[in-house]
Amino acid sequence: MTPPVEIAPARGRVGVLLVGLGAVSTTTIAGALAIRKGIASPIGSLTQMGTIRLGKRSEGRSPKIKEMVPLTSLDDLVFGGWDIFEEDCYAAARTAGVLDASLLTQVRPELEAIRPMPAVFDQKYVRRLDGPNVKKGKNKRDLAEQVIADIRTFKQEQGCDRLVMVWCGSTEVYLKQGPAHASIAAFEQALERSDESIPSSMIYTYAALREGIPYANAAPNLSADVPAMLELAARTKAPVAGKDLKTGQTLIKTIIAPGLKARLLGVEGWYSTNILGNRDGEVLDDPESFKTKEESKKSVLDYIFQPHLYPGLYDDLCHVVRINYYPPRGDNKEGWDNIDLVGWLGYRMQLKINFLCRDSILAAPIVLDTALFLDLAKRAGMSGIQEWLSFYFKSPMHAPEVYPEHDLFIQLMKLKNTLRYMKGEELITHLGREYYD
Ligand SMILES: NC(=O)c1ccc[n+]([C@@H]2O[C@H](COP(=O)([O-])OP(=O)(O)OC[C@H]3O[C@@H](n4cnc5c(N)ncnc54)[C@H](O)[C@@H]3O)[C@@H](O)[C@H]2O)c1
Repeated sequence: MTPPVEIAPARGRVGVLLVGLGAVSTTTIAGALAIRKGIASPIGSLTQMGTIRLGKRSEGRSPKIKEMVPLTSLDDLVFGGWDIFEEDCYAAARTAGVLDASLLTQVRPELEAIRPMPAVFDQKYVRRLDGPNVKKGKNKRDLAEQVIADIRTFKQEQGCDRLVMVWCGSTEVYLKQGPAHASIAAFEQALERSDESIPSSMIYTYAALREGIPYANAAPNLSADVPAMLELAARTKAPVAGKDLKTGQTLIKTIIAPGLKARLLGVEGWYSTNILGNRDGEVLDDPESFKTKEESKKSVLDYIFQPHLYPGLYDDLCHVVRINYYPPRGDNKEGWDNIDLVGWLGYRMQLKINFLCRDSILAAPIVLDTALFLDLAKRAGMSGIQEWLSFYFKSPMHAPEVYPEHDLFIQLMKLKNTLRYMKGEELITHLGREYYD
């Protein structure tokens, strides 16, 4: 079959610009450097380890995803970014405390060479943080132009052919879409008057999209998912994805919940609590930042269970999510879930999950995959919302007329079918009648 889209080759270097060089970013960068040196393994990354079945089961064709579609090689990635702290990536990785000193030492010179560019930051949007490495500007428009200048300089100095930007900054306070986000024209006027409804994250989004650079949001705050940014992405042909990486407790939720629903087991209650001691946990200790996170975490079950279609099974679900900042644990989050189930004839059961996870270890392969897949989408001429990347996010971006898909297994099928579609391969329906007719 002739492929419906033409994919430009993955030639040259790709600059991965990360906003916020904290735990997630430094774990991603140090990991990619260590993997490319052959001293660590890319566990958890679909682009590096995943395979994809092509054609019929009887054909036995299951190449690696990176052999099936032209993905940029890890050797061709160059990392850079912004932060409000001045520490280089090695020092930031030591502060984050995720990776062992023995691994970091082996990539130390490369990490030390990555120094954060001064950030666009306003404490109004992240109240628990303050740092010295911050840009000054006459208004928000001026700040956006400074970010654009940073992007261009980075591209030129690093000899990059293409760029990708991922917001890995702290979760900002809860904001709702407003008139300033309604169109590019309204947004640009709002930048000029430094309108309060434009948080720092959106200034980076605007800068990336103005440059036609693919953009993803690893955090739950509003950034690319407003009409103005989508209009800009369409104009500059930039693919976008988000938001809020699906790691830890929500990952487990979107694995377990579709299974319970598949067997039509009712769920009366789902109580989730966490302890987390890293800087992200500290920021989320502020109720306004937590509200942004809570909205993102809570919507998942409503969409998976579809209570309107299953009266009596999920319509009275009591879903509670808590995060408690507890410094001794650092990045090693501990999550507890108690699920109150209802089975045959209304008999009650309980399921308890205790997940001792490492947040940034789960997040890093997602940042890498998202960056590589967005670069692929850009080369394939696919712009705007990339719903096939929902697999990676807690609050997947979606078209206004459809609900977001949260079921991890449907999301994976969507992702793989998109890759098959891009290469003109047959989509897999799992019908399989031909073996029995
Ligand atoms: N780790 C996970 O599993 C996970 C999952 C989903 C979402 N997230 C989100 O990803 C983000 C990063 O998480 P993390 O654990 O790396 O947090 P972190 O606190 O270690 O790092 C965030 C960094 O962003 C910087 N920052 C904040 N505002 C900035 C701005 N305006 N410009 C530039 N830098 C800025 C901070 O100084 C900090 O260094 C958070 O919003 C978090 O909620 C993380």
